[in-house]
Amino acid sequence: MKAAKIKRVGILTGGGDCPGLNAVIRAVTKSAISNHGWQVFGIEDGYAGLIEKRGHELTQSHVSGILTLGGTILGTSNRADPFKVPVIRGKKVFFEDHSDRAIEHFRQWGLDVLVAVGGDGTLSIANHLFQKGVPVIGIPKTIDNDLSGTDYTFGFQTAVSICTEAVDRLHTTAAAHHRVMILEVMGRNAGWIALYAGSAGGADIILIPEVPYSMEVICRAVKKRAQYGKKFSLIVVAEGAKEKGGIAIIKKRDLKNPYPVKLGGVGSYLAEKIEKLAGLETRSANLGHIQRGGSPTPPDRNLGTLFGVHAVELIQRQTWGHMVCAQGNLIKSIPIVQAVSKLKVVPHDHPMVRACEAVGINFGR
Ligand code: F6P
Repeated sequence: MKAAKIKRVGILTGGGDCPGLNAVIRAVTKSAISNHGWQVFGIEDGYAGLIEKRGHELTQSHVSGILTLGGTILGTSNRADPFKVPVIRGKKVFFEDHSDRAIEHFRQWGLDVLVAVGGDGTLSIANHLFQKGVPVIGIPKTIDNDLSGTDYTFGFQTAVSICTEAVDRLHTTAAAHHRVMILEVMGRNAGWIALYAGSAGGADIILIPEVPYSMEVICRAVKKRAQYGKKFSLIVVAEGAKEKGGIAIIKKRDLKNPYPVKLGGVGSYLAEKIEKLAGLETRSANLGHIQRGGSPTPPDRNLGTLFGVHAVELIQRQTWGHMVCAQGNLIKSIPIVQAVSKLKVVPHDHPMVRACEAVGINFGR
């Protein structure tokens, strides 16, 4: 679909929130209004707003003062999917396709383009809408940094800073008590946060989903440290890490969510096992959503601004179906389908993995 002339831009933020979303909303809104004279319309709570027809105009004053704020002024949803709307019949949940209704709302609002800011799930939906004729531009977000086609997503750097600070704090208490301390961080399928925060915080062991761990190797490593006088050890583990031959630990299943599995608990699992098998006092802490909240770091504010402004340039060129991305020092774009077709996981020989191993960090392998 080629719009003759752009007049009105719709924007939504979908999936888990992430520091830097407001920087993107601000950049898109300011650039669209002041450089092109377009109107900007904010869709509320991700795709929920598109399905339920909820949204409001965004003016310069709506986005003034939001650069430094965490969360998203538009709200978000990590459940809503126009192609999979949960409908309860009896005691069962069924999913129905309500995408035609969502597209009708897009048209009734008079929008010429939908800017979808989100991760894998949000952008896959955006791509389906694009295939159904909706002009779409994607902007990648996720603290997990696991979207293909972009070196970084905003939010990742902030999450790494928060997790690194937590490792630093656990370090002093681990040393004081001569304990093994475990920090569980997010990362369902990719261990980028654990890898970068573990390295920056000087962890002794880093466990990531990409490298299944052996309990025996972990216990040997912590006992060895205790034997040569280092009576404490620090372990950073991604929530999706799994034992060799095992599966990730599931905290709960949310059947009304099109992505029902919620991970969590690997930190406590490891703590129990280490106490039992290595005989060392062990504690675990789980940062949970703390690592997604609060103010974005300066690099994430800047990445959000670069992405938002570039998205407006893509709208001007009507490069529909594309996602903004960062590659090397350049801000570019790629077809959304390329970004969502496969996750960007940590390669076993990634320079950061090799550097960690070179300084003695154990990956439990
Ligand atoms: O996708 C980002 C992420 O932070 C994952 O690492 C984590 O598994 C998930 O979100 C948790 O989301 P929720 O807000 O549904 O608990």
